[in-house]
Order: sequence, then structure tokens, then C-alpha cells
Amino acid sequence: MEQTAHSAAPQGGEAGDGASGPELAVETRALTKIYGGRDATGRRALDAVDLAVPRGSIFGLLGPNGAGKSTLINILAGLVVKTGGTARIWGHDIDGDTRAARAAIGVVPQELNLDSFFTPREVMEQQAGFYAVPKRERRTMEILEAVGLADKADAYARSLSGGMRRRLLVAKALVHNPPVLVLDEPTAGVDVELRRSLWAYVRRLNENGATILLTTHYLEEAEALCDRIAIIDHGRVIACEPTPDLLKRLDQRTVTVTLASEAPGALTGQLGALAPERAGPHRLVFRFSGRDSGIPAILAALQEAGLAIADLATEETDLEDIFLSLTAGDGEDGGRREARDPMAGTVAVARAGPDP
Ligand SMILES: Nc1ncnc2c1ncn2[C@@H]1O[C@H](COP(=O)(O)OP(=O)(O)OP(=O)(O)O)[C@@H](O)[C@H]1O
Ligand SMILES: [Mg+2]
Repeated sequence: MEQTAHSAAPQGGEAGDGASGPELAVETRALTKIYGGRDATGRRALDAVDLAVPRGSIFGLLGPNGAGKSTLINILAGLVVKTGGTARIWGHDIDGDTRAARAAIGVVPQELNLDSFFTPREVMEQQAGFYAVPKRERRTMEILEAVGLADKADAYARSLSGGMRRRLLVAKALVHNPPVLVLDEPTAGVDVELRRSLWAYVRRLNENGATILLTTHYLEEAEALCDRIAIIDHGRVIACEPTPDLLKRLDQRTVTVTLASEAPGALTGQLGALAPERAGPHRLVFRFSGRDSGIPAILAALQEAGLAIADLATEETDLEDIFLSLTAGDGEDGGRREARDPMAGTVAVARAGPDP
């Protein structure tokens, strides 16, 4: 599925080649969605979301179930009508310039909504017709090959596996050659092997100029694929930063040592220099940043102090910790405060609770 990914990437036309175009592929301002009425009785699925997806990026929208990810995607796709705010796709306002905005985006929906009685070839041709792609410019087989479905081109969709259907949806989204590809939970319910091959394909599309916006609640997926991650919860963006910056905050490790006897009242020498925290009479907690675990230094310090170890446990902060600390128990205005200054806390502070 990788060899031909190149040819399935956006190649020009009004869609642009990805190398040129607006600085922001997608931009939302104060985007708001209230389902079931504009007043307090409605459900506020998006609450004044500002999002800026740079052209050429793989941008991850990460959040728990019900956070508002699909709502946002579906507004961009024209499937859900927003309650307030603005959205631009490839510089085109979705209200003022609807046609151009639609043409610039391909959306792979979360639901596997395929008509079982059509074949992949038919699905592709229908979609091309829908977007008024002239016959000579259609790339049905090229795209099906790129997603590894060439040999299923004439099989009924109902005979495709879940993973194949998902790939067909990706293929369908590429029919009109959009510079922005949006994938809503691209690997939900997909096995590990297919997940990796979908990741590889998404990367290839991106290398060839497509801007990718994807939603996921797999932290691993966002970490592996995205160069920028926004975390959304209860319809609010509570963090948004380049993935390496987020990972830097992960670069922290905790080593908890349980001593065979009580820790001395004053910690001196090497042990004092490491400045562990006390967690009970027998327990010392050491924190390190950087990839170095610090364990050799701890062992040396404990030996110098003549202290025997009963147990030692290490724990790495991962994206899950940050995610939980940012999203857990947000009060009504906690999310707003963090949205304004989402990166204020250190990992230690963030871990201590949602309201540092
Ligand atoms: N058509 C609808 N009518 C009423 N409420 C809706 C509708 N669609 C979504 N919601 C509500 O809006 C909120 C956001 O839902 P959304 O589907 O956008 O979340 P999500 O982040 O995509 O979740 P998931 O990870 O489960 O896909 C949820 O509270 C959901 O119940
Ligand atoms: Mg969703």
C-alpha cells in the first residue's frame, strides 16, 4: 500500500499541491456547537474552539469519548451546522465560500457508512461524480491501489472486512484530490498491523503535501503520527502544542525506594544532594528529568548512607498522565483557564491535580 501512495497525494488544481497555499490549512475561531437548541437546554458540544492547523502538518485532535472531536470534524465537512463562530478551510470560509471550502477537504468519517451493495470501484466513481471530477481526471484504480484495495475493486462492499472498509473510506475521501484530509478515528477497531500500514500511508500522503487533521483517543497514535497535538475535552481545547514539547513534559521519571528500615531524619551526602521527597517513614521518592533513570546514583547514595532497599519502583510519565491531569475533574471554568494558558504547569504540578 505504500509504493503508490505518492501518486494518490494531492497534485494540484484548485486544491493546490500543499507546498503553496494558505499558512493555515484549517482555522476555527470561537467555533461553537449546541445540539438541540441554542439556549441552556441544548448540549454544548463545542465551546468557542480556536484551532489553527498549519499547512503541511499532521495535526492530532485528542480527547475522550464525547469531547466534541467528531462534531468539529463534521462541521468542517458540512455535515453538522455550527451554532456560532467561524471556520476556514484552505482559506475559504465555510459559510461565505462553501463550495471552495468543501472542495478543499476530504473527510474520512468515524462511522463505517458504506452501502453494502456497491463495489469499491462504484463507490469511487459515485464520489467522483458527486465532486464533478471529469472522467479523464479520475484516479479510481490508482487510489484503490494506494490503499491496497485494487484486488477488491469489484467486490461488494458487504464482503469487505472492517479494515478494508476503513481503507475504502480513506480512498473515497481522496477522490477529489483535496489538500486537507481529515480522518475521524482512522484506526478505531483496526488490528495492529493495519493500523501501522494506515499510519505509514497517512505519513506518505503528508510527505506528498497533504495536511492531515486526525482525531483519536489513542495517545500512542497521536504521539506516533502528529507533529502537533490539541487536547479537547468537554468541547474545549485544553492544550495545544507541538508534539515534541508535549513529549518534553513526559521526560520525567519517578523512582520510589522503600527502605528496609526507617529513613534517617536528616539526609546528607549523596543522598541529600538527590533531595528525595519523603512518602512515609520508609519511603523516598526521587524525581528525574531526562532519559537518565538516575538509578545508579540512587543506589550509590543509599549504599553510602548504609541503607538497605526493600523495594524499588520506577514510573515514567506518559501522555496518558498528562492527558488525565489536564482533563480529569475540570471544573466549569478550569478548562477555560487552561485553554488560555494551557502550558503553564510543569509535569509535577500537572500531575498533582487539575487545579494547580
Ligand atoms: N446529533 C447529536 N445530537 C445531540 N447530541 C449530540 C449529537 N452528536 C453528538 N452529540 C453530543 O455532543 C457531544 C460531543 O460528541 P462528539 O461525537 O463530537 O464527541 P467525540 O469527541 O467525537 O467522541 P468519540 O470519541 O466517542 O467519537 C457528546 O456529548 C454527544 O453526546
Ligand atoms: Mg467521534
